[in-house]
Amino acid sequence: MQLNTDKMIAEVEDGIGWMTFNNPERRNALSLEMWEAIAMIVEEFQQDHSVRVVVMKGAGDKAFVAGADISQFDEKRSNAQQIEQYSATLSGARQRLADLDKPLIAMIRGYCLGGGLTVALNADIRIASEDAQLGVPAARLGIAYGYEAMKQLVDLVGPAFAKEIAFSARRLSAEEALRIGLVNRVVPAGKLEETARELATTIASNAPLSVKAAKFTIGETLKDPSSRDFGAISRMVKTCFDSRDYIEGRTAFMEKRKPNFLGS
Ligand code: COA
Repeated sequence: MQLNTDKMIAEVEDGIGWMTFNNPERRNALSLEMWEAIAMIVEEFQQDHSVRVVVMKGAGDKAFVAGADISQFDEKRSNAQQIEQYSATLSGARQRLADLDKPLIAMIRGYCLGGGLTVALNADIRIASEDAQLGVPAARLGIAYGYEAMKQLVDLVGPAFAKEIAFSARRLSAEEALRIGLVNRVVPAGKLEETARELATTIASNAPLSVKAAKFTIGETLKDPSSRDFGAISRMVKTCFDSRDYIEGRTAFMEKRKPNFLGS
């Protein structure tokens, strides 16, 4: 894959697609080039059948992502036309993340702020280290989030905590984030990668069609009732029952062995 920056890294290993934000000197703040590369990497992982689950992480030990790169705001986000272009790139990347039909895990070490939190909100599962700090500094910068990011935050923590997070712009500790459901799990920093890898490996060894159906169906429950695609859910359930993997799952259980799923 030809990326336009070395500040994003994509690697595939044992069914796991690793996407690394690689700008540690800037606490992995996301430049426009990085947002573009995120879209390319996610698209590549979506198409690559050897990738069963995706894990996002930040390089170094200080940050997942400390937000969008504020140093580019003057140059790339100062008038209406530029803002429109910049927003289109960001929403393109977020849309790719949201459209990924494979499980997406955010492995959060250190700062996870602003645009970094919106990236993490697109993950299905967030695992944080004890030293993680999460927040939405927008109100300290004079900017505001659109509907999608706010909806994802409200879906996770409810309106009261979403308001406290957005109004105060303060950073929450990992413990607080865990208490309100912003992250699934908190582990010591030294165990973070191992924990994320273990969970990703478990998911990667499960039946891909079942995992895909679960992700889709849970996503539908969060939509307005009128937009839910019940037909697609029924088709996915049927596809699972008709699959070779269902035969493999039952056979492996009866034979007391580990199933070998192919995703068909
Ligand atoms: N955009 C651009 N540069 C950033 C950045 C961001 N979002 N976050 C950190 N950096 C840069 C800093 O400017 C600094 O650069 P320098 O070494 O050239 O001075 C470098 O990363 C290290 O940051 P520093 O503030 O010295 O580290 P810290 O550990 O004391 O604090 C943060 C880390 C993340 C708390 C602090 O950098 C911060 O508040 N960043 C902005 C967070 C934010 O508002 N994000 C939302 C953007 S939409």
